[in-house]
Amino acid sequence: MKKALFAGVAALVISAPLTAATAFTDAADAVKYRQAAFQLIRHNMADINEMIKGEVPFDAKRVQKRADALVMVTTLPWEAFQVAGTEQGGGDAKADIWQNLADFLERGEKLAADASTLQAAAQTGDQNELRKAFGNFARNCKACHDNYKE
Ligand code: HEC
Repeated sequence: MKKALFAGVAALVISAPLTAATAFTDAADAVKYRQAAFQLIRHNMADINEMIKGEVPFDAKRVQKRADALVMVTTLPWEAFQVAGTEQGGGDAKADIWQNLADFLERGEKLAADASTLQAAAQTGDQNELRKAFGNFARNCKACHDNYKE
């Protein structure tokens, strides 16, 4: 009885890696993962944008919180473009990405670096600094989308 149970558990453990697809092993999941990351980038960025424009009251603490989040979430999408099978396409990613992967990843790194500059500007509490850093950060989006997004 005990032996049979053990064998059952062992079989489960052995078969688990075959069935457990994650965003980092499965191309379709990788598309969902990076799209979710881009949505988080968009939401955090939009909130800062609305505060800068005065559409919602400016709140320095809230800007800092969004900038802190952007430092993290801007590092996330890029790994999901390098999962085996993702070069077959999927989502709105253009095939050019995988023909110019070094350029694409460099742009991703620049976005994350500019998010750190934005975070530093948010911490100073100087709104001119913040505007400038935000403008530089935001420019990355369209530049990459024009080349690499449908
Ligand atoms: C280095 C290139 C690159 C940069 C920089 C970049 N994006 Fe994207 N973005 C993409 C690609 C490629 C896709 C398509 C992903 C897919 O569908 O698999 C995308 C998709 C998106 C989407 C759609 C996600 C969905 O749900 O389908 C949003 C929103 C988005 N990006 C926002 C932004 C914002 C905001 C910025 C700037 C702060 C930004 N992106 C910067 C490459 C980039």
